[in-house]
Amino acid sequence: MVRLLLKAVDKSYGSVHALCDFSYSFEPGIYALLGPNGSGKSTLMNIISNNIPADSGSVLFSRDGSAEADVFDMGDLFRQELGYLPQDPTFYPSFSVNQFMWYMAELKRVRGQSRGKTGRLAISAQIDQLLREVDLEQIRHQPISSISGGMKQRLGIAQALLGNPTVILLDEPTAGLDPMQRVNIRNYISKIAKDRIVILATHIISDIEQSAKDILILKNGILANHGSSRELANRMQGHVWTIQTRENQINTFANRFRVIGISQIGDPNSEMVSIRLIAAEKPTENALPVQPGLEDYYLNIFGSQGSYNTFDVS
Ligand SMILES: Nc1ncnc2c1ncn2[C@@H]1O[C@H](COP(=O)(O)OP(=O)(O)O)[C@@H](O)[C@H]1O
Ligand SMILES: [Mg+2]
Repeated sequence: MVRLLLKAVDKSYGSVHALCDFSYSFEPGIYALLGPNGSGKSTLMNIISNNIPADSGSVLFSRDGSAEADVFDMGDLFRQELGYLPQDPTFYPSFSVNQFMWYMAELKRVRGQSRGKTGRLAISAQIDQLLREVDLEQIRHQPISSISGGMKQRLGIAQALLGNPTVILLDEPTAGLDPMQRVNIRNYISKIAKDRIVILATHIISDIEQSAKDILILKNGILANHGSSRELANRMQGHVWTIQTRENQINTFANRFRVIGISQIGDPNSEMVSIRLIAAEKPTENALPVQPGLEDYYLNIFGSQGSYNTFDVS
């Protein structure tokens, strides 16, 4: 089993403290880094992948209980364990999908060895399999300039898997995808996560709500909290409510509470609405408590500032 251990990792850019004293131990499974833009997700991935140095702290890797080695000292040895889809991947538009995979295999110095095959034949078999798995086999000879955003994202994931890495970093892998493509990518990531550490940065809750074994909440570079989707949602128990009221009362509630959703009740001409909101205490006599979800937790922590009460449920 592989293990990735981060110890007190710290990084500033000038006066911006992008990552503060980050410690965590990753084992095989899907982990989510959840936080809004600027919370430090990409910085963390760049440090794990050795693209930027941390100011202090260490990133250690071990396999099958062997001694931990600093990934910085491991150099290329760690690169072979690593698959990385950066937030803004560069694709060479004139390359075909197939050429791009070969090019990345060269860059990563993938040594072909699989099912008795060696060398280029084995690399070729690996590329075939990866393109099949992300559904790009049919268009493998098309230039990258002609394929859709969803296809590019899938190609980005396929290249991250070259060389069968044990640590996979995916920085916003579903950015710019439509809901159907998002579901496909999500399912694919679940499929590859077995025996591997998959770390997925996102601010989209539905991407990770079902699949992540641990969700790491990053707020201004600080690991504010972590837990399963259910554990985090449960922290909001007793703080999420629905209230039935007249439409013209919406503003009154929105001024006092964090409103999560509003839906019409009855026929379209009805003036009654149901409001879902967050409140530390029962907000009105007729308010009913509802089962909280991860989104409620997220919005309580990160919802826009306002006079209303973000409260501490950590
Ligand atoms: N190369 C850089 N130079 C200066 N500031 C940076 C740089 N990269 C990131 N930052 C800042 O560090 C913070 C964290 O950024 P980032 O790690 O990209 O967050 P996220 O990926 O969660 O959006 C932000 O305030 C961002 O503006
Ligand atoms: Mg980012």
